Amino acid sequence: MLTRRSIARRFLTGAAVVVGVAVVTIFVVDALVSPAIFHAHLMQADLSNPETVLRHVEEGMRSSNMIALAVAILIAVLAALLVSLYLATRVSASLAPLAAAARQVAAGDYTARVDAGPLGAEFDELTEAVNAMSQRLASVEQSRTRLFSDLAHEMRTPIAVVQAQLEGIEDGVVGVEDSIPVLRAQAERLTRLSSDIGLLSQAQEHALRYEFAPGEVASVVRGCVDDMALRYREAGVQLTLDVATHARAQLDTARFAQVITNLLANALNATVSAGRGRTGDRGGHVHVGVRRHGNEVAVQVRDDGVGISPEELPHVFDRFARVGPARDRSSGGFGIGLTVARAIMSAHHGRISADSPGPGRGATFTVTVPVLH
Ligand SMILES: Nc1ncnc2c1ncn2[C@@H]1O[C@H](COP(=O)(O)OP(=O)(O)OP(=O)(O)O)[C@@H](O)[C@H]1O
Ligand SMILES: [Mg+2]
Repeated sequence: MLTRRSIARRFLTGAAVVVGVAVVTIFVVDALVSPAIFHAHLMQADLSNPETVLRHVEEGMRSSNMIALAVAILIAVLAALLVSLYLATRVSASLAPLAAAARQVAAGDYTARVDAGPLGAEFDELTEAVNAMSQRLASVEQSRTRLFSDLAHEMRTPIAVVQAQLEGIEDGVVGVEDSIPVLRAQAERLTRLSSDIGLLSQAQEHALRYEFAPGEVASVVRGCVDDMALRYREAGVQLTLDVATHARAQLDTARFAQVITNLLANALNATVSAGRGRTGDRGGHVHVGVRRHGNEVAVQVRDDGVGISPEELPHVFDRFARVGPARDRSSGGFGIGLTVARAIMSAHHGRISADSPGPGRGATFTVTVPVLH
């Protein structure tokens, strides 16, 4: 409580100074005035009459006490004023920059930062809290601005395609019949964007509702692998599953399956983009492993696709992530799957991580959840 620089210690020291000054004043004034007063009284007393001696001694005592006390009170009041003035100046010197920073933040300027004031550890803590608050607001504001520009960017392509088609129809270059599938595809893309954004904002605000129940991780993974098998077959990419544990975990099966399905879809895209599979000249392969490591079950999805460079690796979980060799954003996903996956895994008290030896050398995504005992 009473740390070396705490404000309580400073106030206590101030009070002790006032009391000390008063006590010292009493002693000093008493020592200075008492002898003269006693001397004057004794000179006036009739030494042969003990009663007058006693009366003069008592009066001398009273007046020297009164004088010492009056001077001490005066000096103590002065000392209290000086100490209060000193403390008040220090307090306002510490509070003024904090108030200015709070006003700056309230006005929307999140660059406000306060230096530690001259008064006490408590004020330093307050300063740190104000700085942390404005820093956090600045980063929220920055990500909000980025979100809008990302959104505008994602909407631009389908809208441009729709506009081009309409102009083609007006100019008679494109037939209405021909443009319907194109227009429909872009409308579907915009619909998907709006539902993905809804999902993303719910996930980031921790507003997704989960229904957890004990479930076997491997069986959910097997279900996802079965569901994706056809797409893999059509793309000519081999998909294998190796289950080494039947451990159970607290799962929201639908959401957990969503994470695994996104990983399988990403791995397929990365493999096909690397020129593997049916369209490429080399066969691609995605391997899924379910293992237990201590108190966790890990699901690993390993592909031999385009891979991810070390600089891009930390950004694959960013929303609207655009990673790898210039991706065609007019047809692929919006880069939301992994952002939502991370939120879902954190709700499962688990993790999701990405690893890649580098571009062209494949990637491995790992999801872990705590084992249910
Ligand atoms: N296995 C992988 N190999 C290489 N790059 C990958 C892999 N998985 C993801 N990425 C990169 O990370 C980006 C983000 O993935 P994410 O799943 O979040 O979005 P997406 O698949 O593009 O779209 P969607 O929102 O439909 O999932 C991908 O666009 C891709 O560039
Ligand atoms: Mg995806």
